[in-house]
Amino acid sequence: MLTIDVVTIFPAMVEAVLVDGVVARARTKGLVDVQARDLRDYTDDKHRVVDDVPFGGGPGMVLKPEPLFRAVEAITAERGTPSAVVLLTPQGKPLTHAMAARFSGMERLVLLCGRYEGIDERVTDAFVTDEVSIGDYVLTGGELPALVLMDAVVRLVPGVVGDESSVAGDSFVRGLLDHPQYTRPAVFRDRAVPDVLVSGHHGEIERWRARQRVERTRDRRPELLDAADLTSEERAARELLEGDASASPKRRRS
Ligand code: ADE
Repeated sequence: MLTIDVVTIFPAMVEAVLVDGVVARARTKGLVDVQARDLRDYTDDKHRVVDDVPFGGGPGMVLKPEPLFRAVEAITAERGTPSAVVLLTPQGKPLTHAMAARFSGMERLVLLCGRYEGIDERVTDAFVTDEVSIGDYVLTGGELPALVLMDAVVRLVPGVVGDESSVAGDSFVRGLLDHPQYTRPAVFRDRAVPDVLVSGHHGEIERWRARQRVERTRDRRPELLDAADLTSEERAARELLEGDASASPKRRRS
């Protein structure tokens, strides 16, 4: 079983995601054990202070080393040596599917949520195995990033998502965006689903979807295309599109 300990000054934020959804269900099924650890429980002063001013001056506050050292040591004593200690920080490596897949194969994950201007670097030096960012924007803390990472990791644990083929076919597993999906009704407010999808012709449906995946990736995330692991249908679609100037971007997306 995968255990995930999330060290945070807002444990209620982490507990909120444990009541509903995929992570909650994985917990009930006994596939993962997630615990929110209140950083203030690892302080030893009356006011349970977790932060202090930065040496060298500057704005904001820095998470103090003592509570974080105690928290990681207490989790290690209780659970055993962590497989990885992950610090969520905008200074980290961007989170990818490959990274989530690596974490999903581990036994004991510890997630440290930063706050304020950061955490004392000695914590990073002593314990942190991976520094991870969820994107090039700054949030108010590492809690939401930790929850994002946890969701991406937990759904890859075998048995968590009912249909394994839905996970295998995901965007980014092969480095390509997904094709569009439709469900009933076949016509809704004068908008019909593409004819090919109701044709029952599986070969044509697969060719259409392959073309959609390649076209979307080329239009929205062209940098992904060269590294993508293409199927024969997708390679054929790519060759068709490369000789097709009319298939240039149709819409702008922010
Ligand atoms: N903490 C604040 N912003 C963050 C980000 N983008 N990724 C990870 N942790 C963060």
